Amino acid sequence: MRYPWWRLLLFCSIASVPCYWLYLAAVAALGPDPGKVLVDNLGQGALVLLLCSLAMTPLRYLTGWSGWIVFRRQVGLWAFGYAVLHLAAYLYFLLGLQFGDFAAELVERPYIALGVIALVGLSALALTSTRWSMRKLGKRWKKLHRIVYPALVVALLHMLWVVRSDAGQWSLYATLAAILLAARVPAVERALVGINARWRGDPLANKNKNNR
Ligand code: HEM
Repeated sequence: MRYPWWRLLLFCSIASVPCYWLYLAAVAALGPDPGKVLVDNLGQGALVLLLCSLAMTPLRYLTGWSGWIVFRRQVGLWAFGYAVLHLAAYLYFLLGLQFGDFAAELVERPYIALGVIALVGLSALALTSTRWSMRKLGKRWKKLHRIVYPALVVALLHMLWVVRSDAGQWSLYATLAAILLAARVPAVERALVGINARWRGDPLANKNKNNR
């Protein structure tokens, strides 16, 4: 296993954040509606981690360091984990475990349906993130994992629907998402590899990009 200590550090850092939020809720430091704050924080956490996981490939092209790809899977799985915790917090704190109300919410609040669609997309990615699935699906694995982009767009629409008029933070996430989507256009990928080649004085880097 490559970079075991970095992986462990990343795992502990990302895992400790929801524990800290729970601690803040327990000591009444999350304001008058801690349940809602937990739901919001976990939703934002899921979105930020999703954006981080999508930044790994462009960062690899830009820096030439293959370690980014080692962390991509873990960060992507954590995005899914935060989204599941976000759903669990919503069911527990906002719905009071009245599962019967969930169907009514889906109809009354279309943004809930968008959240479910985004979570289904992330679930498909998480379930097929194993080496076994990679081998089994072959070339189809890469195609399937492009679901991450529609899932990201749907998650952004879900958030926009919630925040509506107060869209400052949303605009920041949407801008980052647009940059990361643009970074996957082949011409932009080649440009990133070219920048790295110039830094390192390696004229073959662009040629080698497709072999990595
Ligand atoms: C079954 C799936 C989901 C359900 C039921 C759900 C439910 C909710 C609810 C009820 C809120 C608003 C809470 C409030 O009143 O403030 C919310 C906000 C949010 N959700 Fe979800 N969600 C789901 C999936 C997702 C996913 C997959 C993501 C991201 C990857 C996400 C990201 C967000 C964000 C960023 C917010 C806004 C937080 C804020 O206002 O600061 N949600 N969600």
